[in-house]
Amino acid sequence: MTLSLNTKFLGNSITNEDLKNISNEVYAAQAKLNARNGEGSDFLGWIDLPENYDKEEFARIKAAAKRIQDSCDIFVVIGIGGSYLGARAAIEFVKSPVYNNIPNKKTPDIYFAGNSISASALNDLLKICEGKDVCINVVSKSGTTTEPAVAFRVFRNLLEEKYGKEGAKDRIFSTTDRAKGTLKKFSDENGYETFVVPDDVGGRFSVLTAVGLLPIAVAGIDIDAMMKGAQDARKAYANADIENNDCLKYVAIRNVLYRQGKSVEILAAYEPAAQMLCEWWKQLFGESEGKDGKGIFPSSVIFSTDLHSLGQFIQDGTRIMFETVLDIKNANDELPIPYDPANVDKLNFLAGKDLDYVNHTAMLGTLFAHSDGNVPNVVLELENRSEYSFGYLVYFFELACAISGYTLGVNPFNQPGVESYKKNMFALLGKEGYEDLAQELNKRITK
Ligand code: PA5
Repeated sequence: MTLSLNTKFLGNSITNEDLKNISNEVYAAQAKLNARNGEGSDFLGWIDLPENYDKEEFARIKAAAKRIQDSCDIFVVIGIGGSYLGARAAIEFVKSPVYNNIPNKKTPDIYFAGNSISASALNDLLKICEGKDVCINVVSKSGTTTEPAVAFRVFRNLLEEKYGKEGAKDRIFSTTDRAKGTLKKFSDENGYETFVVPDDVGGRFSVLTAVGLLPIAVAGIDIDAMMKGAQDARKAYANADIENNDCLKYVAIRNVLYRQGKSVEILAAYEPAAQMLCEWWKQLFGESEGKDGKGIFPSSVIFSTDLHSLGQFIQDGTRIMFETVLDIKNANDELPIPYDPANVDKLNFLAGKDLDYVNHTAMLGTLFAHSDGNVPNVVLELENRSEYSFGYLVYFFELACAISGYTLGVNPFNQPGVESYKKNMFALLGKEGYEDLAQELNKRITK
């Protein structure tokens, strides 16, 4: 089994009756998704993506990745939100959270830019690029998002100064809308190779399109295996039988808990390699479900690290949360704990034991402690950190998110709330067309 749901640590929070009672709502949400007539049904391209992807573009992604690997030391991926989180999550999860520092790796270092407005973050990266050969991938579906657009200006200048306009064009890859938008037009005019964010796939559901696949392939990850994982997950979670469909069961559990007042879900993983996967997951669920005054607030922790910070609150603070624990069964790494003749730390009882065994034991102890502390825990047991498992898990979460959003009664595929800060920022920065709002906000500042 690549992925299975363990409900043993839910404690008494959920009865079979609870699951039975909500199951018809979950089936209705699943049917709505499959009928493709619910809210946001223009954005369901991700459902078929594992099988029905553009094979010609897929081959182009692999070819471009090879050229990038051969021609640069540093590959900069410029994008924000759904336009970078999936790629970064995959690279860290499958390769390493310190991918750039893997000794003797044959693939370029990969950095992510345009995901903040921080001058020092951008300046630091520019310094790292000094004296290095650089390629960039600008990723923006709309082509107009401020953060990546600014970073793109900066890196385009760098490349044009270093390689000239002609040389730079072979080092700039853009992933954007198929036909419309300023980035598409600009890229075509300048002769950049372009890749497509399909019209019917929203940013946070786009990791298995060129958005994620190009950087992932540059990192030397087998994207065929990743797609195969997603394909198999699609098949595994197609049935409408909650007893035999862990995806539906996960949806049912989180919605029952939400209705019991558990308004925070913590995704907990015991591998630092899963940190960006958690960030990707938070965006997926947060942007999809948090609207109309509803939604489970997604948060995340890496244990045992965060047992020494948030652990106290989770064990003993306000009882508003449940945990979804990602248990990676096979860590692919062995590290026996050394024997110390002086036994200063009194840890010789662990000598010779594998660190991964200790990590799993810490997980087990924490599962007991937190569920005894009235934090229901649901465990997702994932076979390993392979690209196949990553693709499988991504599809599991995307499907669960969509069905859960419909069960909750929201449109999981829009993000109207994201616009509010942008309008205010543009007004305060003096953008044309925002004069009235600027006046109103400035009045509020000086009040
Ligand atoms: O999920 C989403 O739709 C968003 O997070 C977008 O990916 C993000 O805002 C970036 O948008 P764009 O790709 O248009 O620059």
